[in-house]
Amino acid sequence: MACTIIVGGFFGDEGKGKIVAHIARRDRPAIISRGGVGPNAGHTVNIGEKTYGVRMVPSGFVYEEALLCIGTGVLVDPRVFLSEVDLLGVKGRAFVDERCGIIDEAHIQRDKGSDHLSKTIGSTGTGCGPANADRVMRIGRQAKDVPELAEYLMDVPAEINESLDDGEFVLIEGTQGFYISLYFGTYPYVTSKDTSASQIAADNGVGPTRIDDVIAVFKAYPTRVGAGPFTTEMTPEEAHELGIEEFGTVTHRPRRIGNWDGERARYSAMINGCTQAAITGIDRIDPDSYGCSDYNKLSKVAKDFIKKAEDDIGAPVTLISTGPDISHIIDLRKEL
Ligand code: IMP
Ligand code: MG
Repeated sequence: MACTIIVGGFFGDEGKGKIVAHIARRDRPAIISRGGVGPNAGHTVNIGEKTYGVRMVPSGFVYEEALLCIGTGVLVDPRVFLSEVDLLGVKGRAFVDERCGIIDEAHIQRDKGSDHLSKTIGSTGTGCGPANADRVMRIGRQAKDVPELAEYLMDVPAEINESLDDGEFVLIEGTQGFYISLYFGTYPYVTSKDTSASQIAADNGVGPTRIDDVIAVFKAYPTRVGAGPFTTEMTPEEAHELGIEEFGTVTHRPRRIGNWDGERARYSAMINGCTQAAITGIDRIDPDSYGCSDYNKLSKVAKDFIKKAEDDIGAPVTLISTGPDISHIIDLRKEL
Protein backbone atom coordinates (compact mmCIF):
# COMPACT_ATOMS: atom_id res chain seq x y z
CA MET A 1 0.00 0.00 0.00
CA ALA A 2 2.79 2.42 -0.89
CA CYS A 3 0.61 4.67 -3.00
CA THR A 4 -3.14 4.94 -2.46
CA ILE A 5 -5.57 7.13 -4.38
CA ILE A 6 -8.95 8.16 -2.98
CA VAL A 7 -11.66 9.06 -5.49
CA GLY A 8 -15.36 9.91 -5.45
CA GLY A 9 -17.54 7.17 -6.94
CA PHE A 10 -20.73 9.15 -7.61
CA PHE A 11 -21.34 12.90 -8.12
CA GLY A 12 -18.93 14.30 -5.53
CA ASP A 13 -19.36 15.08 -1.83
CA GLU A 14 -19.18 11.39 -0.95
CA GLY A 15 -17.21 12.12 2.20
CA LYS A 16 -13.71 11.76 0.74
CA GLY A 17 -12.38 14.43 3.10
CA LYS A 18 -13.30 12.43 6.17
CA ILE A 19 -11.95 9.17 4.68
CA VAL A 20 -8.66 10.85 3.76
CA ALA A 21 -8.36 12.38 7.24
CA HIS A 22 -8.93 8.99 8.88
CA ILE A 23 -6.42 7.16 6.65
CA ALA A 24 -3.88 9.94 7.17
CA ARG A 25 -4.14 9.56 10.94
CA ARG A 26 -3.99 5.77 10.94
CA ASP A 27 -1.42 5.14 8.22
CA ARG A 28 0.87 8.16 8.60
CA PRO A 29 1.69 9.04 4.97
CA ALA A 30 4.90 10.95 4.27
CA ILE A 31 3.01 13.02 1.69
CA ILE A 32 -0.66 13.78 1.16
CA SER A 33 -1.18 15.33 -2.25
CA ARG A 34 -4.25 16.67 -3.90
CA GLY A 35 -5.48 15.98 -7.45
CA GLY A 36 -8.67 17.11 -9.19
CA VAL A 37 -9.92 20.34 -10.68
CA GLY A 38 -9.28 23.08 -8.10
CA PRO A 39 -11.07 25.20 -5.49
CA ASN A 40 -14.51 24.21 -6.85
CA ALA A 41 -14.24 21.20 -4.51
CA GLY A 42 -14.91 21.48 -0.81
CA HIS A 43 -13.96 18.76 1.64
CA THR A 44 -15.37 18.74 5.14
CA VAL A 45 -13.49 17.35 8.12
CA ASN A 46 -15.12 17.17 11.56
CA ILE A 47 -12.96 16.64 14.61
CA GLY A 48 -14.75 16.87 17.91
CA GLU A 49 -16.31 20.33 18.13
CA LYS A 50 -14.45 21.67 15.09
CA THR A 51 -15.54 21.61 11.45
CA TYR A 52 -13.08 22.44 8.67
CA GLY A 53 -14.06 23.03 5.06
CA VAL A 54 -11.02 22.91 2.80
CA ARG A 55 -10.92 23.82 -0.87
CA MET A 56 -7.17 23.80 -1.63
CA VAL A 57 -5.15 22.28 1.21
CA PRO A 58 -5.46 18.45 1.33
CA SER A 59 -7.97 17.14 3.91
CA GLY A 60 -5.21 15.02 5.39
CA PHE A 61 -3.82 18.16 7.12
CA VAL A 62 -5.07 16.68 10.42
CA TYR A 63 -2.04 14.36 10.42
CA GLU A 64 0.66 16.80 11.40
CA GLU A 65 3.75 14.98 10.13
CA ALA A 66 2.79 14.84 6.45
CA LEU A 67 3.80 17.21 3.68
CA LEU A 68 0.65 18.67 2.13
CA CYS A 69 0.96 19.12 -1.61
CA ILE A 70 -1.09 20.32 -4.54
CA GLY A 71 -0.40 18.35 -7.70
CA THR A 72 0.67 19.83 -11.03
CA GLY A 73 -2.71 19.37 -12.71
CA VAL A 74 -4.71 21.19 -10.04
CA LEU A 75 -5.80 24.83 -10.46
CA VAL A 76 -4.75 27.10 -7.61
CA ASP A 77 -6.54 30.22 -6.45
CA PRO A 78 -3.71 31.87 -4.50
CA ARG A 79 -6.11 33.78 -2.22
CA VAL A 80 -7.95 30.61 -1.20
CA PHE A 81 -4.70 28.67 -0.73
CA LEU A 82 -2.98 31.36 1.35
CA SER A 83 -5.99 31.92 3.57
CA GLU A 84 -6.35 28.18 4.26
CA VAL A 85 -2.63 27.82 5.02
CA ASP A 86 -3.02 30.63 7.52
CA LEU A 87 -6.26 29.36 9.05
CA LEU A 88 -5.01 25.79 9.44
CA GLY A 89 -1.53 26.81 10.55
CA VAL A 90 0.19 24.54 8.01
CA LYS A 91 2.85 26.95 6.76
CA GLY A 92 6.15 25.12 6.32
CA ARG A 93 4.55 21.87 5.18
CA ALA A 94 2.11 23.07 2.50
CA PHE A 95 3.37 23.16 -1.08
CA VAL A 96 2.13 23.91 -4.58
CA ASP A 97 3.61 22.47 -7.74
CA GLU A 98 5.33 25.24 -9.65
CA ARG A 99 3.39 24.41 -12.81
CA CYS A 100 -0.13 24.58 -11.36
CA GLY A 101 -2.52 26.76 -13.36
CA ILE A 102 -3.67 29.93 -11.59
CA ILE A 103 -7.20 31.23 -11.07
CA ASP A 104 -7.56 35.01 -10.93
CA GLU A 105 -10.49 37.36 -10.43
CA ALA A 106 -11.16 37.58 -14.19
CA HIS A 107 -11.70 33.78 -14.34
CA ILE A 108 -14.21 34.01 -11.50
CA GLN A 109 -16.03 36.86 -13.24
CA ARG A 110 -16.17 34.89 -16.51
CA ASP A 111 -17.50 31.83 -14.66
CA LYS A 112 -20.19 33.77 -12.77
CA GLY A 113 -20.96 36.05 -15.71
CA SER A 114 -21.60 33.25 -18.18
CA ASP A 115 -25.25 32.18 -18.24
CA HIS A 116 -24.20 28.91 -19.82
CA LEU A 117 -21.80 28.03 -17.00
CA SER A 118 -23.55 29.53 -14.03
CA LYS A 119 -27.20 28.88 -14.95
CA THR A 120 -27.36 25.96 -17.41
CA ILE A 121 -24.50 23.87 -16.03
CA GLY A 122 -24.71 25.22 -12.50
CA SER A 123 -20.99 25.77 -12.01
CA THR A 124 -19.62 26.64 -8.58
CA GLY A 125 -18.54 30.07 -9.87
CA THR A 126 -14.99 29.55 -8.63
CA GLY A 127 -13.35 30.25 -11.99
CA CYS A 128 -12.20 26.70 -12.70
CA GLY A 129 -13.79 26.26 -16.15
CA PRO A 130 -12.42 29.54 -17.59
CA ALA A 131 -8.97 28.92 -16.04
CA ASN A 132 -8.80 25.46 -17.61
CA ALA A 133 -9.96 26.97 -20.92
CA ASP A 134 -7.09 29.49 -20.75
CA ARG A 135 -4.63 26.71 -19.99
CA VAL A 136 -5.78 24.84 -23.10
CA MET A 137 -5.44 28.07 -25.11
CA ARG A 138 -1.95 28.36 -23.60
CA ILE A 139 -2.52 31.81 -22.21
CA GLY A 140 -2.89 31.02 -18.51
CA ARG A 141 -0.47 31.92 -15.71
CA GLN A 142 1.35 29.32 -13.60
CA ALA A 143 2.14 29.17 -9.88
CA LYS A 144 5.77 30.07 -10.51
CA ASP A 145 4.64 33.44 -11.93
CA VAL A 146 2.89 34.44 -8.69
CA PRO A 147 5.23 36.18 -6.20
CA GLU A 148 2.97 35.39 -3.19
CA LEU A 149 3.42 31.67 -3.88
CA ALA A 150 7.22 31.75 -4.21
CA GLU A 151 7.91 30.23 -0.79
CA TYR A 152 5.44 27.39 -1.37
CA LEU A 153 6.73 26.13 -4.73
CA MET A 154 7.83 22.55 -5.18
CA ASP A 155 8.33 19.93 -7.87
CA VAL A 156 5.52 17.84 -6.38
CA PRO A 157 5.79 14.78 -8.69
CA ALA A 158 9.56 14.54 -8.00
CA GLU A 159 8.95 14.66 -4.24
CA ILE A 160 6.22 12.00 -4.46
CA ASN A 161 8.21 9.64 -6.66
CA GLU A 162 11.31 9.95 -4.45
CA SER A 163 9.19 9.23 -1.41
CA LEU A 164 7.81 6.11 -3.10
CA ASP A 165 11.37 5.05 -4.02
CA ASP A 166 12.20 5.28 -0.31
CA GLY A 167 9.32 2.92 0.52
CA GLU A 168 7.20 5.59 2.16
CA PHE A 169 3.42 5.74 2.05
CA VAL A 170 1.89 8.44 -0.15
CA LEU A 171 -1.81 9.28 -0.05
CA ILE A 172 -3.31 10.97 -3.09
CA GLU A 173 -6.56 12.75 -2.56
CA GLY A 174 -8.99 13.04 -5.46
CA THR A 175 -11.74 15.64 -5.59
CA GLN A 176 -15.15 15.77 -7.27
CA GLY A 177 -16.93 12.59 -8.27
CA PHE A 178 -16.80 10.18 -11.20
CA TYR A 179 -20.11 11.27 -12.77
CA ILE A 180 -19.07 14.89 -13.09
CA SER A 181 -15.94 13.88 -15.05
CA LEU A 182 -15.54 15.82 -18.30
CA TYR A 183 -15.06 12.49 -20.10
CA PHE A 184 -17.10 9.91 -18.21
CA GLY A 185 -19.78 12.03 -16.53
CA THR A 186 -23.19 13.30 -17.60
CA TYR A 187 -21.82 15.73 -20.23
CA PRO A 188 -22.38 18.65 -20.56
CA TYR A 189 -23.43 18.74 -16.88
CA VAL A 190 -19.91 18.08 -15.68
CA THR A 191 -16.83 19.84 -14.39
CA SER A 192 -13.96 21.06 -16.57
CA LYS A 193 -11.67 18.01 -16.27
CA ASP A 194 -11.66 14.24 -15.89
CA THR A 195 -12.08 13.15 -12.26
CA SER A 196 -11.26 9.43 -12.48
CA ALA A 197 -8.36 7.78 -10.63
CA SER A 198 -6.10 7.86 -13.71
CA GLN A 199 -6.49 11.64 -13.91
CA ILE A 200 -5.87 12.08 -10.20
CA ALA A 201 -2.64 10.08 -10.60
CA ALA A 202 -1.65 12.12 -13.66
CA ASP A 203 -2.36 15.36 -11.77
CA ASN A 204 0.38 14.34 -9.37
CA GLY A 205 2.82 12.94 -11.91
CA VAL A 206 2.47 9.39 -10.60
CA GLY A 207 2.67 6.79 -13.37
CA PRO A 208 -0.01 4.06 -13.58
CA THR A 209 2.44 1.33 -12.55
CA ARG A 210 3.10 3.02 -9.21
CA ILE A 211 -0.43 2.95 -7.83
CA ASP A 212 -1.11 0.14 -5.35
CA ASP A 213 -4.65 0.90 -4.26
CA VAL A 214 -7.62 2.91 -5.47
CA ILE A 215 -10.24 3.46 -2.81
CA ALA A 216 -13.51 4.68 -4.33
CA VAL A 217 -15.85 6.41 -1.91
CA PHE A 218 -19.60 5.92 -2.31
CA LYS A 219 -22.39 7.54 -0.39
CA ALA A 220 -25.26 5.30 0.77
CA TYR A 221 -27.63 8.05 -0.40
CA PRO A 222 -25.78 9.79 -3.25
CA THR A 223 -26.16 13.55 -3.76
CA ARG A 224 -25.65 15.97 -6.62
CA VAL A 225 -25.22 19.75 -6.64
CA GLY A 226 -25.88 21.74 -9.79
CA ALA A 227 -27.83 20.68 -12.86
CA GLY A 228 -27.78 17.38 -14.72
CA PRO A 229 -29.28 13.89 -14.88
CA PHE A 230 -29.65 11.99 -11.60
CA THR A 231 -31.61 8.80 -12.27
CA THR A 232 -32.17 7.72 -8.67
CA GLU A 233 -33.04 11.22 -7.40
CA MET A 234 -35.81 11.34 -4.80
CA THR A 235 -38.29 14.14 -4.18
CA PRO A 236 -37.43 16.73 -1.51
CA GLU A 237 -40.37 15.28 0.49
CA GLU A 238 -38.88 11.77 0.42
CA ALA A 239 -35.51 13.15 1.48
CA HIS A 240 -37.21 15.08 4.27
CA GLU A 241 -38.94 11.86 5.46
CA LEU A 242 -35.51 10.26 5.72
CA GLY A 243 -34.21 13.30 7.59
CA ILE A 244 -31.63 14.08 4.91
CA GLU A 245 -30.79 17.68 4.13
CA GLU A 246 -27.39 18.75 2.80
CA PHE A 247 -25.78 21.92 1.53
CA GLY A 248 -22.69 22.35 -0.66
CA THR A 249 -19.41 23.15 1.13
CA VAL A 250 -18.38 25.70 -1.51
CA THR A 251 -21.65 27.20 -2.77
CA HIS A 252 -24.03 26.41 0.15
CA ARG A 253 -26.61 25.36 -2.44
CA PRO A 254 -28.97 22.57 -1.34
CA ARG A 255 -27.79 19.17 -2.59
CA ARG A 256 -30.17 16.94 -4.52
CA ILE A 257 -30.57 13.58 -2.77
CA GLY A 258 -30.92 10.17 -4.39
CA ASN A 259 -31.14 6.46 -3.67
CA TRP A 260 -28.25 4.01 -4.03
CA ASP A 261 -27.43 3.39 -7.70
CA GLY A 262 -25.84 -0.05 -8.05
CA GLU A 263 -25.36 0.18 -11.79
CA ARG A 264 -23.54 3.52 -11.57
CA ALA A 265 -21.47 2.24 -8.64
CA ARG A 266 -20.28 -0.74 -10.70
CA TYR A 267 -19.38 1.29 -13.80
CA SER A 268 -17.51 3.89 -11.78
CA ALA A 269 -15.61 1.21 -9.83
CA MET A 270 -14.60 -0.36 -13.15
CA ILE A 271 -13.22 2.80 -14.75
CA ASN A 272 -11.53 3.89 -11.51
CA GLY A 273 -9.84 0.50 -11.14
CA CYS A 274 -11.25 0.39 -7.62
CA THR A 275 -9.44 -2.13 -5.37
CA GLN A 276 -11.38 -1.29 -2.19
CA ALA A 277 -14.44 0.80 -1.47
CA ALA A 278 -15.58 3.09 1.31
CA ILE A 279 -19.29 3.58 2.08
CA THR A 280 -20.32 6.73 3.87
CA GLY A 281 -23.63 7.62 5.53
CA ILE A 282 -24.52 4.12 6.79
CA ASP A 283 -26.17 5.85 9.75
CA ARG A 284 -28.82 7.04 7.30
CA ILE A 285 -29.61 3.48 6.27
CA ASP A 286 -29.82 2.49 9.93
CA PRO A 287 -29.80 5.36 12.46
CA ASP A 288 -28.83 2.88 15.23
CA SER A 289 -25.43 2.49 13.59
CA TYR A 290 -24.57 6.15 14.29
CA GLY A 291 -21.01 6.47 15.57
CA CYS A 292 -20.40 2.69 15.52
CA SER A 293 -16.76 1.63 15.12
CA ASP A 294 -17.20 -2.16 15.36
CA TYR A 295 -18.49 -4.09 12.34
CA ASN A 296 -19.93 -6.83 14.58
CA LYS A 297 -22.19 -4.30 16.28
CA LEU A 298 -23.87 -3.25 13.03
CA SER A 299 -27.49 -4.29 12.52
CA LYS A 300 -28.59 -6.77 9.86
CA VAL A 301 -30.08 -3.89 7.85
CA ALA A 302 -26.74 -2.11 7.72
CA LYS A 303 -24.76 -5.30 7.00
CA ASP A 304 -27.18 -6.29 4.22
CA PHE A 305 -26.80 -2.87 2.63
CA ILE A 306 -23.01 -3.18 2.69
CA LYS A 307 -23.16 -6.69 1.23
CA LYS A 308 -25.37 -5.48 -1.63
CA ALA A 309 -23.06 -2.50 -2.23
CA GLU A 310 -20.08 -4.83 -2.32
CA ASP A 311 -21.78 -7.03 -4.96
CA ASP A 312 -22.60 -3.95 -7.04
CA ILE A 313 -19.13 -2.42 -6.77
CA GLY A 314 -17.27 -5.68 -7.28
CA ALA A 315 -14.63 -4.89 -4.64
CA PRO A 316 -14.55 -5.27 -0.87
CA VAL A 317 -15.99 -2.49 1.28
CA THR A 318 -13.21 -1.94 3.79
CA LEU A 319 -14.19 1.44 5.24
CA ILE A 320 -17.64 2.22 6.61
CA SER A 321 -18.45 5.70 7.81
CA THR A 322 -21.15 5.80 10.48
CA GLY A 323 -21.33 9.53 11.23
CA PRO A 324 -19.66 12.87 10.50
CA ASP A 325 -16.85 12.77 13.06
CA ILE A 326 -13.43 11.42 12.10
CA SER A 327 -13.88 8.76 14.83
CA HIS A 328 -17.19 7.49 13.42
CA ILE A 329 -15.67 4.83 11.21
CA ILE A 330 -15.26 1.08 10.86
CA ASP A 331 -11.92 0.21 9.29
CA LEU A 332 -11.63 -3.36 8.04
CA ARG A 333 -8.34 -2.82 6.17
CA LYS A 334 -5.24 -4.76 7.06
CA GLU A 335 -2.59 -2.94 9.06
CA LEU A 336 0.10 -1.46 6.81
P1 IMP B 1 -17.56 23.79 -12.01
O1 IMP B 1 -16.64 22.64 -11.77
O2 IMP B 1 -17.50 24.82 -10.95
O3 IMP B 1 -17.43 24.33 -13.40
O4 IMP B 1 -19.05 23.21 -11.92
C1 IMP B 1 -19.55 22.27 -12.87
C2 IMP B 1 -20.46 21.25 -12.21
O5 IMP B 1 -19.68 20.41 -11.34
C3 IMP B 1 -21.55 21.85 -11.31
O6 IMP B 1 -22.71 21.03 -11.38
C4 IMP B 1 -20.95 21.75 -9.91
O7 IMP B 1 -21.93 21.71 -8.91
C5 IMP B 1 -20.19 20.44 -10.02
N1 IMP B 1 -19.05 20.34 -9.09
C6 IMP B 1 -17.80 20.85 -9.24
N2 IMP B 1 -17.02 20.54 -8.20
C7 IMP B 1 -17.77 19.80 -7.37
C8 IMP B 1 -17.52 19.15 -6.12
O8 IMP B 1 -16.42 19.18 -5.56
N3 IMP B 1 -18.56 18.48 -5.56
C9 IMP B 1 -19.77 18.40 -6.16
N4 IMP B 1 -20.06 18.98 -7.33
C10 IMP B 1 -19.07 19.68 -7.93
MG1 MG C 1 -17.46 18.46 -1.54
